[in-house]
Amino acid sequence: MSFITIEGGEGTGKSTLIKGLAGALSADGREVVQTREPGGSPGAEDIRALLVTGDADRWDAMTELLLVTAARRDHVERVIRPALARGATVLCDRYVDSTRAYQGMRGVPRDLIDRLHRDSIDLDPDRTLVLDLAPEEGLARAAERGGAARFEGMGLAYHQKLREAFLGIAKAERGRCRVVDAAAPPAEVLSQALAALDNP
Ligand code: TMP
Repeated sequence: MSFITIEGGEGTGKSTLIKGLAGALSADGREVVQTREPGGSPGAEDIRALLVTGDADRWDAMTELLLVTAARRDHVERVIRPALARGATVLCDRYVDSTRAYQGMRGVPRDLIDRLHRDSIDLDPDRTLVLDLAPEEGLARAAERGGAARFEGMGLAYHQKLREAFLGIAKAERGRCRVVDAAAPPAEVLSQALAALDNP
């Protein structure tokens, strides 16, 4: 498993899990690259700043799709592909499933998202861990840490739909995705995740 993505709603503990996974996976000496989306390369981080700040309706859903895809293209070409080519393991906080969930929920057709991904990026993860948590809990955690305000201000019903969207993706793509119970203590979340990476 070289290219691993971690997905889920706000406050599900993705960053904590990625740190834990990086520690465990680099113990045998292999290079592990920790990265995130939107962002992960200098150009993509600039695009991230446009996406996560401002009013909730700053961009319409199609513009968001184009912005996140432009950011992803830069990130994949400059960071992810080179890392995979030199044999590193890449741990990426969010990837195209976040686009399917977030922009999909805002009305962008799934086939358009998939087509744009195939034609402009064409790189899929070997394994995707979907961190699943009740949105009440996730939002409380996210509020404590102070996060990406533009997306967190959307309300509970929105985050409930988001949870269902991620679970729907995991169900439809059982070969690639594994659901991890993010309500468990961090050490247990890490061991669930490691087991999901071991198990083809
Ligand atoms: P983060 O809070 O996990 O760092 O993510 C920033 C926000 O960007 C998050 O609310 C989800 C959103 N996002 C999208 O809407 N589409 C995408 O494709 C990605 C990667 C993130």
